[in-house]
Amino acid sequence: MKPSLLALLSGSAVVAQQIAQDPGVRGPPLEITHLYYDQMPTGIAVSRTGRLFSCYPSGLDANNTRYQVAELTTNNTETPYPNSGINSPPGGAINYTTYPPSGANYQNYFIGVQSVAIDPLERLWILDTGRALTPDGTLTIVLPTTVAYPDSYINDVRIDLRPNITASGKGVAYITDSSQQRRNGIVIVDLGTKEAWRHLDGTPFVSAEKQHLASVWGEEVYFVPGPGEPFTFDPTGADGIGLLDGGDTIVWSVTGGRRLYSISNQYLLNRSPNSEVEAQANVRSLGEKGQTDGLMQDTNQYIYAGNAEQNAINIYNARNSSVSTYIRDPRIGWTGK
Ligand SMILES: *[C@@H]1O[C@H](CO)[C@@H](O)[C@H](O)[C@H]1NC(C)=O
Ligand SMILES: *[C@@H]1O[C@H](CO)[C@@H](O)[C@H](O)[C@H]1NC(C)=O
Ligand SMILES: *[C@@H]1O[C@H](CO)[C@@H](O)[C@H](O)[C@H]1NC(C)=O
Ligand SMILES: *[C@@H]1O[C@H](CO)[C@@H](O)[C@H](O)[C@H]1NC(C)=O
Ligand SMILES: *[C@@H]1O[C@H](CO)[C@@H](O)[C@H](O)[C@H]1NC(C)=O
Repeated sequence: MKPSLLALLSGSAVVAQQIAQDPGVRGPPLEITHLYYDQMPTGIAVSRTGRLFSCYPSGLDANNTRYQVAELTTNNTETPYPNSGINSPPGGAINYTTYPPSGANYQNYFIGVQSVAIDPLERLWILDTGRALTPDGTLTIVLPTTVAYPDSYINDVRIDLRPNITASGKGVAYITDSSQQRRNGIVIVDLGTKEAWRHLDGTPFVSAEKQHLASVWGEEVYFVPGPGEPFTFDPTGADGIGLLDGGDTIVWSVTGGRRLYSISNQYLLNRSPNSEVEAQANVRSLGEKGQTDGLMQDTNQYIYAGNAEQNAINIYNARNSSVSTYIRDPRIGWTGK
């Protein structure tokens, strides 16, 4: 998601004199694991041995230029990961020789990393959108392919390595496209053949709900498309993604909305001529769970969903289809992942 592109605007002409706050607290006490000190993170991945990794997309904050991926080495130090070289594209992340400027076309350097995730084999997967912000706040375009459109914003990834789900036997990555230009969908990548395809493209299930308006810390959150442009509603689509039933079910949420959706993996894996209509016919709405950026699953059939409007993380319990508050604290502003 892109908090830096969302402006907190007062709905009336009166400028609030007090800093908005929401002191509600619920659930277990928070523990500080790491204090980020200059770059704004969107993701965190925890290895089995407790190593921590974060990403800082240049497409969300023009100040995220020092590195795109780092290991969190102590509670206040970060080390570019896997090294500083791959985090330093020659000439920067933006190609100014094109008009409009585009994400630099490097396959061996990080450009704008939105998500990090560790798979069951303890491999760190790094999802690079290939897009960066120019200093005036314009999000660059990227070169077109059939699955990552120029105005795509691939946002988050989950990996299912079970050998029986594809012919290649090497597993699959499921990726959300949260594009604020409304090129939303779910991208599926066969990790063996490297083939990628899309499903649910442009459907309501992956798109921001019409005129969705969130309220955070008592302030309305509208969206500013560009410098000086009229504000509008948050257009951010499919963002958080998670796996249930060991990977047999995929769940996701759109940031410009409050619902959780699910589909059986067979409909996303299928590429037959009627696979798209079948996919659309088999999406389930699991109901509302708050406005979410990131999702995380555990092994108890729980989906943890950030609830930006209530400084909270909620749980969707797939065993009884219910939502409950897991933790709430004024220090939880906007839960990423
Ligand atoms: C980037 O850094 C500059 C200088 O420290 C600061 O004024 C600006 O607010 C920062 N921008 C963002 C989006 O945080
Ligand atoms: C960070 O770690 C240091 C050394 O262990 C400790 O003194 C300090 O309190 C920690 N800071 C936070 C915010 O946890
Ligand atoms: C920048 O764009 C030009 C024109 O498309 C292209 O030839 C060049 O390879 C690009 N360089 C990078 C680093 O993206
Ligand atoms: C793959 O095997 C698992 C058991 O390991 C099973 O639950 C799942 O349904 C199988 N998936 C397919 C697509 O056959
Ligand atoms: C769902 O199950 C959980 C325990 O797994 C329980 O705490 C919760 O109250 C249940 N919710 C409803 C609505 O029954």
